[in-house]
Amino acid sequence: MIDIGIFVGSVYGNAQQVAEQAQQMLIEHGLQVQVFDDPSLDDFKQSQAIVFISSTTGQGDVPPNLEFFIDELRSSFPLMDNKPFAVAGLGDSSYGDTYCGAGRQIYALLEELQGNPLADFLEVDACETLEPETVVLPWLTQLIPQLTAK
Ligand SMILES: Cc1cc2nc3c(=O)[nH]c(=O)nc-3n(C[C@H](O)[C@H](O)[C@H](O)COP(=O)(O)O)c2cc1C
Repeated sequence: MIDIGIFVGSVYGNAQQVAEQAQQMLIEHGLQVQVFDDPSLDDFKQSQAIVFISSTTGQGDVPPNLEFFIDELRSSFPLMDNKPFAVAGLGDSSYGDTYCGAGRQIYALLEELQGNPLADFLEVDACETLEPETVVLPWLTQLIPQLTAK
């Protein structure tokens, strides 16, 4: 089993970089963490806690590297049985209605799968924050006790 699976959706590498820094930080806290940029359902099932860090592309769309996996979650619908999850979305508020659309879709899907949300969806706005890790890492740090509660 993996303590925490970080599922990353990224087009230009920003979310990927944040995910790798998050992995490093969680490993320093003694956790077993894997980053998945081309995840399978098994990766999802074998992670005891799920963290998504995803940008938004197109018009509120999930990045191509996660598209197939999200479709697979929707079609096979693996119930999470209260498994803890958290979702951070990287977006840009100048996109208006589609701001952080991918992260929102993912958060809603994990709720439908009956996961246990540990925090509200975290929006990281590229208009306000040039270094998304400065928002995501502190947010994730304060979730560690809940992410690791058995
Ligand atoms: C072609 C394109 C489309 C985008 N569409 C959206 C969008 O619909 N909503 C949003 O919030 N951000 C949108 N963004 C902004 C990205 O999500 C944001 O720049 C993010 O930091 C990119 O992270 P990444 O490098 O991990 O892909 C878009 C960016 C590009 C270049």
